[in-house]
Amino acid sequence: MQKFEYYAPTRIVFGEDTEKRAGELAREYGASRVFVIYGGGSAKKSGLLDTVEASLKDAGLASFCSGGVVPNPRLSTVRRMIGEAKEFGADFILAVGGGSVIDTAKAVAHGTANPDVDVWDFWLRKVALTRSMPIGAILTISAAGSETSDSSVITDDSKEPWTKRGINTEFNRCRFAIMDPKLTMTLPVYQIASGVADIFMHTDERYFTTILGNHLTDQLAEGLFRDIIEWGPKGVADPQNYEAMSEIMWCGSVSHVGMTGVGAKGDTGREGDWGVHQLGMALSALYDVTHGPSLTATWGSWARYVCSENPARFAQLGRRVFGVTEADDEKAAEAAIAAVEKFYQSIGMPISIHELMGRELSDEELAAVAKECSYDYTRKIGTFKVLDADDILEIYKMAR
Ligand code: NZQ
Ligand code: ZN
Repeated sequence: MQKFEYYAPTRIVFGEDTEKRAGELAREYGASRVFVIYGGGSAKKSGLLDTVEASLKDAGLASFCSGGVVPNPRLSTVRRMIGEAKEFGADFILAVGGGSVIDTAKAVAHGTANPDVDVWDFWLRKVALTRSMPIGAILTISAAGSETSDSSVITDDSKEPWTKRGINTEFNRCRFAIMDPKLTMTLPVYQIASGVADIFMHTDERYFTTILGNHLTDQLAEGLFRDIIEWGPKGVADPQNYEAMSEIMWCGSVSHVGMTGVGAKGDTGREGDWGVHQLGMALSALYDVTHGPSLTATWGSWARYVCSENPARFAQLGRRVFGVTEADDEKAAEAAIAAVEKFYQSIGMPISIHELMGRELSDEELAAVAKECSYDYTRKIGTFKVLDADDILEIYKMAR
């Protein structure tokens, strides 16, 4: 095993009715004036927001609620909320929602704590983030893993074409994450499936690494794959199945907290690949498509494009997770790729861009997506196989 550092500071409070502890927990982490962020209305409709406000009030905390975060959350919303949070005099940011709400909360925390900096400059890496505000989360969808991750992904909607960018920093860590699986039972089935796909992918992106020989990490990853493959479809079939929704929820956090990638390269883990996330994020930037299916639509083409770098790795996934018995590595790798695609299809996820978009993208449209993905031809993506703009376009064409 190589050198590593592992740090996962978020306190997880898991189980039924834990949302009633929001006030007590926020106060414990120093809150007195809590700026509460939510999305398009599901938290209001379910009564969750009322529960949270009552809990904050009972703990003697002042609160201000601000909604309107949309999936693939936008910079314009972040800027509006920074203004509101400053005016309110917030000293704690509480996210009530999914990845989009939590990522917005992180951005609002950074912007509010740094009034002299244009918040987007942190995402453009023009300015280093050196301070922020405490954040907490009440999770309502198991998917992005933002409740425990060090990332925040925001879309700049201020000019065409839109761009979607992420930053990783320890300031993105929530102080606490309240996770009540019951809160996820009101989700539309498509959102549950999209979340299951994203959860699978967060460990998949770490599994396809060039740093091998880390056996416990591999087994943790493979255990997570097996669990989400077992329970994901059960949750999609019946969102009222508490056991399934609990497994999906815990998988979501474990998949993206670094644990399934620990092994080398400093920080939180061994170097993952993350190429498929970059392919999917460019599609979401230009077409505002849901994150999970943007990954499943391109994964198979990515896998076939990069497989020859190390077919044994794909074969290991096939044998240990999908029960592939083929002795030849290349044949086992092919079987593994087909098995992952079959899993995606079983939960109603697309495995091509055509299925994702409901139409075929033209050569010009795919070239524009490749341009966004390569940041105007200025960067390469991936580590399992490093991909330049030509490779990226080729994969999009294969996925078309
Ligand atoms: O806005 P509301 O009305 O709440 O509706 C949301 C939204 O339409 C709905 N929803 C959430 N909880 C619900 C519910 N509907 C009914 N009942 C509930 N309990 O679900 C829809 C999707 O919500 P969203 O927050 O967008 O989902 P998700 O958690 O998948 O987040 C996606 C965003 O996270 C980013 C993605 O790129 C995308 O922008 N990611 C963030 C990561 C991170 N910070 O670590 C990592 C990921 O790879 C990902 O990139
Ligand atoms: Zn993701």
